[in-house]
Amino acid sequence: MGIGIPKIQKHMYNSRIAGLGYYVPEKVVTNDDLSKLMDTSDEWIQERTGIKERRHIIKGEETTSSMGVKAAKMAISNAGLTPNDIDFIVFATLSPDYYFPGPGVMVQRDLEMNTVGAVDIRNQCSGFVYGLSLADQYIKSGMYKNVLVIGSEVHSTGLDMTTRGRDVSVIFGDGAGSVVLTREENLEKGILSSHLHSEGRHAEELSVIAPAMGTRWVTEIIEENDPDDTSYFPYMNGKFVFKNAVVRFSEVIKEGLEKNKLGVEDIDMLIPHQANLRIAQFIQKKFRLSDDQVYNNIMYYGNTTAASIPIALAEAVEKGKVKDGDLVILAAFGSGFTWGSVVIRW
Ligand code: ACO
Repeated sequence: MGIGIPKIQKHMYNSRIAGLGYYVPEKVVTNDDLSKLMDTSDEWIQERTGIKERRHIIKGEETTSSMGVKAAKMAISNAGLTPNDIDFIVFATLSPDYYFPGPGVMVQRDLEMNTVGAVDIRNQCSGFVYGLSLADQYIKSGMYKNVLVIGSEVHSTGLDMTTRGRDVSVIFGDGAGSVVLTREENLEKGILSSHLHSEGRHAEELSVIAPAMGTRWVTEIIEENDPDDTSYFPYMNGKFVFKNAVVRFSEVIKEGLEKNKLGVEDIDMLIPHQANLRIAQFIQKKFRLSDDQVYNNIMYYGNTTAASIPIALAEAVEKGKVKDGDLVILAAFGSGFTWGSVVIRW
């Protein structure tokens, strides 16, 4: 018999979300407002995307990093912590203030934090899920105790607000969301697993291919540019993105459930990346989930890319829709293509 070999544990700690925060600019832009700038209508936009309105920054007043800082402050305070308790910063965005440095360091600066590490994630709509997964690994390994994860986007300064760009510009909005991920000793609680994927052969199907730029100066760059050159605006092969999104969302949700030996019936709350309400509804129907099991807010914010999941999660928690012990699944798909899911026992 001999000495019993202790069961090898995968990791010493789990990580759990200890605080959430979000910030959206005050300026509401309705579908009717957009129809004054381009040939579109409230009816078309709502029918295809579910979006009623979105928020846009007032240029010069907010940036991707400043909104991220506001969301982060709220998340840190809701976690009962101070900025100096944070061991590491993860910032996900496709719309950094500058081409470089990324906005992670601006959070360290603006919150007057210790000189902790700051990393920037460039995975567009999947950015928050990638960031949360990264933070989770740092906590599970024991390296850090409190990691700040932020998703923030300024889309409005870089969209083609003419009829030429209407298929893209009506979809996107500005905003920021954040969580503090903290060490959890109960291995049954917190992030159970995360699942990340990419397929770079579709990199150009949803992309900005222009040379280096940051969102603080993108309007000026575009104005000085040849008006016929659309390379500075996001390009999206909408139908192709839609078709891939519904397949990958489904796959990665199933992958997360299977990894944890759970079934669809175990899902208490699904927070899909707010890409398009029609995509979320397709997934809801496919998994036969009730309206109480899926949280959507794209109607009011549009698609805020890396910020959409943390804003939706923060709102769902604020409204009491997520309870202790609930199984929460976050799932995203976007440019890259990249996609992923995070399975959480709340
Ligand atoms: N207002 C009015 N008409 C429009 C608009 C608009 N804003 N945009 C396009 N149209 C017109 C087109 O010009 C076209 O006209 P035509 O038939 O005369 O050529 C017609 O509407 C249909 O256009 P489609 O592009 O075929 O419309 P579709 O049904 O594919 O809807 C949409 C477009 C909403 C973008 C859809 O493809 C979609 O949702 N794709 C998924 C992409 C997505 O969700 N992206 C979000 C970001 S990526 C992510 O987060 C995963």
